[in-house]
Amino acid sequence: MLELPVLGSETAPQPAVHTANGARLVYVETYGCQMNLNDTEIVLGILSANGYGVASRPEEADVILLNTCAVREHAEQRVLERLNHLKPYKRQKPWLVVGILGCMAERLRSRLLGRNALVELVVGPDEYRKLPQLLEHAFAGEQGIAVRLSRVETYDDIEPLRTEGISAWVSIMRGCDKFCTFCIVPFTRGRERSRPLNSIVAELQRLSERGFKEVTLLGQNVNSYRDPVSGADFADLLAACARAVPHMRIRYLTSHPSDMSDKLIETMAAYPNICKYIHLPVQSGSNRILRLMNRGYTVEQYLERIERIRQVMPDCALSTDIIAGFCTETEEDHQATLELLRTVRYDGAYMFKYSPREGTRAWKWGDDVPEEVKLRRLNEIIALQQQISYEVNQEREIGRIHEVLVEGPSKRNPEEWQGRTDTNKVVIFPRTPECSVGALVRVRIHRATSATLFGEVLAA
Ligand code: 5AD
Ligand code: SF4
Repeated sequence: MLELPVLGSETAPQPAVHTANGARLVYVETYGCQMNLNDTEIVLGILSANGYGVASRPEEADVILLNTCAVREHAEQRVLERLNHLKPYKRQKPWLVVGILGCMAERLRSRLLGRNALVELVVGPDEYRKLPQLLEHAFAGEQGIAVRLSRVETYDDIEPLRTEGISAWVSIMRGCDKFCTFCIVPFTRGRERSRPLNSIVAELQRLSERGFKEVTLLGQNVNSYRDPVSGADFADLLAACARAVPHMRIRYLTSHPSDMSDKLIETMAAYPNICKYIHLPVQSGSNRILRLMNRGYTVEQYLERIERIRQVMPDCALSTDIIAGFCTETEEDHQATLELLRTVRYDGAYMFKYSPREGTRAWKWGDDVPEEVKLRRLNEIIALQQQISYEVNQEREIGRIHEVLVEGPSKRNPEEWQGRTDTNKVVIFPRTPECSVGALVRVRIHRATSATLFGEVLAA
């Protein structure tokens, strides 16, 4: 999954304030991946059904929950720092309850309780149904912890509380069974389990009726999706979604290269409303490192999948995840990663320094690549990928006409508007009368940086 900046109620797509008279107000701050964003909506769905209102600022809240990420040390540090900043709120409002949700709750468990005398509630990703009860106890002065993982929980019957908008996240499966040796997710989110196809399709239909224009199907490894009722696979699910809401754009995250089947690639090609963008994390360009990571494919097998995708969908955009400085990584391994980037020429990449996580297999192997070497390798990877993204955009985007889903005024310059291509690139353009939030407009690109396209709206 992709890492997001810190999102609080001010910036996250949160619902309008529901201040039922006398209702206790909850404020949730979300860290980490898109899965967590959708989990926050599920938590708000559960709490609002139990009489809670949603605060738009932490100072208004009776309950502050941090929905956390444990994938890298840095993500955890940010949450611990945030807890320090929350201390004054507790001094002003002694009844305030502060809780930790998500992957950090699952990983650190009771070690979080009483942290700065602030945390009274620790709830893992499969225990959110217990929140109303745990909060009642917390208001009565009792600490609460619920961190059991489940083999069946998918929150299938919970309607996530979403802001009105144009784009929605929908979880289709939870957990991961891949056990990559660097990754904490199988331990914090538990075993893989899927939601029934019919209920996912019904959720998309409701979103379409509410005016949403785009949906992103979420899972740690969506290619492992299996309908527990019919046995349908992920390609079947995508096709069913594409047919059920033909006017909505459909995206998905994240794929595992080992399970990127021909059938899935052909299904993507067959439906115009399935976006031509694939995030396909490779992690490393060295076969020795891939084996140590337990990724289940070689560089050659990965490249064969990329070739197949490009044969079937020549205009499909591709992005990846890279880890720099995994244990035992040599200069030669690092060069192989750079070489892979030059071979694939991704549209974009998310690049990270290896961060050892206690409890994973790789934890026991140590962290032997010195910090300055890791940082230098990461910087080389970032610089190369930026150059490639820039070149790819110059070669393929200038003069191209994209159908763009209009999101609204540009964040940098509100005089201009922004939207996203089917291939998930941000486009900036001067506003025309056709441009309203949620409209699809045709934009001709005339300039590009490594991350952004600039163009002009064509008359309909
Ligand atoms: N250290 C660094 N990066 C990691 N990721 C997962 N675990 C770690 C770790 N221990 C990265 C992977 C994954 C993405 C979501 O986060 O690249 O694809
Ligand atoms: Fe982690 Fe690997 Fe599962 Fe992705 S596929 S969540 S990297 S264990």
